Amino acid sequence: MAETLEAISERVVKCTLCDLSNGRKNAVPGEGMANAKLMIIGEAPGKYEDILGKPFVGMSGKFLNKYLELAGIDRSSTFITNSVKCRPPNNRKPVIEEISACRSYLISQISLIKPKLLLCLGTSACNSMEIRYQHLSEVRGRPMHLKFYGLEIECFVTFHPSFPMRFPKARETFLADLKEAKKIVGM
Ligand code: URA
Ligand code: SF4
Repeated sequence: MAETLEAISERVVKCTLCDLSNGRKNAVPGEGMANAKLMIIGEAPGKYEDILGKPFVGMSGKFLNKYLELAGIDRSSTFITNSVKCRPPNNRKPVIEEISACRSYLISQISLIKPKLLLCLGTSACNSMEIRYQHLSEVRGRPMHLKFYGLEIECFVTFHPSFPMRFPKARETFLADLKEAKKIVGM
């Protein structure tokens, strides 16, 4: 029988595959629907995610929630996770080795959920999906078909919400990207 999302989460909370396991209060496997048409990948748990064991509950989470709502996307119908499931010290960016160590959980989650679209928020999510570029603008804002560890999957890249949160000029593009993602999914 196929593994459930809960079973994957149980493996994540016990995981010691990389050093990020040393500093975590709680691992953050992700949350949402097993039949989600839209799956969202962020970067890494921050302070509040680590405390609560849930993704996107801090400041960028609030910003993301607001923009999902503006785009007409119901967060509770999605599945949201991150490129690494444990909080990096002082909220530094996860390094490639940590993202690689954590990738097998993401692959398990994608295989089980089989989303219609995978929305990658920023650089770390792209690293998880092995989407390569010099500058994010080369891949941002358009659907792409990926072959990924035996899976075939539609991906769509946009900014990590912390970018438009800090730079208001990027907000219009971020919203347009979310609306485009919604259109592709047909939600
Ligand atoms: N919270 C998360 O869960 N992921 C991020 O990438 C940022 C904040
Ligand atoms: Fe395991 Fe991922 Fe946490 Fe590293 S970040 S310990 S690979 S669950």
